[in-house]
Amino acid sequence: MEAEGRKFYSAIVDVTSPESTEKFATDVVENLGDVKVLVNNAGIYPWKPFSETDFDTWRKVIGVNLDGTFLMSKAFVPIMVQNQYGRIVNVASTTFFMNAQQMTAYIASKGGIIGFTRALAGEVGKDGVTVNVIAPGLTNTSTMKGVNEEIFETLPNMQAIPRVIEPKDLVGVVSFLCSDDSAFVTGQTIVADGGQVRN
Ligand SMILES: NC(=O)c1ccc[n+]([C@@H]2O[C@H](COP(=O)([O-])OP(=O)(O)OC[C@H]3O[C@@H](n4cnc5c(N)ncnc54)[C@H](O)[C@@H]3O)[C@@H](O)[C@H]2O)c1
Repeated sequence: MEAEGRKFYSAIVDVTSPESTEKFATDVVENLGDVKVLVNNAGIYPWKPFSETDFDTWRKVIGVNLDGTFLMSKAFVPIMVQNQYGRIVNVASTTFFMNAQQMTAYIASKGGIIGFTRALAGEVGKDGVTVNVIAPGLTNTSTMKGVNEEIFETLPNMQAIPRVIEPKDLVGVVSFLCSDDSAFVTGQTIVADGGQVRN
């Protein structure tokens, strides 16, 4: 598919599957010829107290959020290392830095992503690959609205910039981390939450 003169390729991928992520990486190279950027955005966030978080829920959240970030990186890092260039942006959450309740599996997975990012950055920096995290605050997406609509009434008021964060508010940070301008930034977590937490 081509739009506005740029090549575009899309596929359905299960980020919890080694086979699916490996196939996707092969197909992307076949269709686009090169890979410069990987944004690991897939994630789930069931809202449950610890007492109701069974092992299946835990495994599912860790599976998509943390295993998914690992598997997509496993699939794409060799291509980036071969090209001696790459930008990886992992998506965590400002909840990692907060007293946020009913999110044990989620916050554990996002903490894992931050740790994974720091460690991977240390291994691939010499190959021209940077690995960073964006940690957004509560953002107005339809999934988030479906999970907990009431929180939009209160949480934005706790931010230094007291309005609801829209997806477009995060675009500049991700673009920066994907660009040549961030060549010397790696292993970092940039919190984009309207100034709610200080990390
Ligand atoms: N919305 C927020 O308030 C908020 C705040 C901080 C961080 N985040 C993070 O931002 C990311 C996007 O969240 P969102 O609110 O846009 O949710 P979303 O549901 O719109 O996006 C998540 C995407 O992940 C995909 N996905 C789920 N399981 C998958 C799997 N096994 N394989 C491949 N894809 C899978 C879904 O299909 C969906 O397209 C998540 O990582 C989330 O944790 C969201």
